[in-house]
Amino acid sequence: MAKIHDLFSLSQEKENDSSQSQSVATEQAVHPVRHIAIIMDGNGRWATQRHLPRLAGHKAGVNALRRVVECASDLHLEMLSVYAFSTENWGRPRTEVDGLMRLFWETIRSDLEKLHRDGVRLRHLGRLNDLSADIQKAVRDSMELTRNNSRIALNICFNYGGRAELVDAVRQIIADGRHPEAITEELIASYLYTRDLPDPDLVIRTAGEMRVSNFLLWQSAYSEYYATLTLWPDFGREDLLAALHSYYQRQRRFGRLSASSTSTKES
Ligand code: FPP
Repeated sequence: MAKIHDLFSLSQEKENDSSQSQSVATEQAVHPVRHIAIIMDGNGRWATQRHLPRLAGHKAGVNALRRVVECASDLHLEMLSVYAFSTENWGRPRTEVDGLMRLFWETIRSDLEKLHRDGVRLRHLGRLNDLSADIQKAVRDSMELTRNNSRIALNICFNYGGRAELVDAVRQIIADGRHPEAITEELIASYLYTRDLPDPDLVIRTAGEMRVSNFLLWQSAYSEYYATLTLWPDFGREDLLAALHSYYQRQRRFGRLSASSTSTKES
């Protein structure tokens, strides 16, 4: 299994100071990152290191998410998508699955009012109908309550799988009787859970793993990836700034040539 510390040194990653914060704020004002997607990994390891049950790690993960939403909102990011429960996570022990379900429901109930006050628009991405009636209702109510909020959007990917999303899209395309000639990339995108949402500019994965894990497969075709050793419950403002700093040092080409090599060719 490839781990990030085999590839990068930690010092590169956490070298942080107010000048980094300043430069990210400046870049963000000129070329705003619209959408960051996060694979929140490492809750279990965080708990194990402290001799705590795994669910304590997931609870600490919720606190990290609260911090990151506030920080992303301060940085004027438009949208965050977080991977909170995958279609594969049903295969975890029953106690952990039940614990994650309860945590999701309790978090919506405890945090909804504040999120609404803070201008957060909530969306759910994934197969909602497979979740309990209580969760479905809480999710639908939270989306309805916050639908006109515009400070930042928070998409919770819960019972989400990239392949399941494509399966759902294909089923609906066929059910709608679409002609083969009508199938375009734009049409497929319009059948995904993310219809009308911008693709992520940056996908962050915590806890040192280097896998995509069925997350936003279609949407992240040209996203930049950033992996960090930080376990999700420890993730905070400094880590988000480090990820953005790294993003701003890259050149996005979307399969084309960079502007400088194009002008060299032309000149
Ligand atoms: C992966 O870490 C994390 C998850 C499967 C769940 C993520 C959930 C949260 C952050 C909290 C719930 C979110 C909401 C919105 C209520 P892992 O358990 O695989 O960690 P490990 O690889 O160290 O075992």
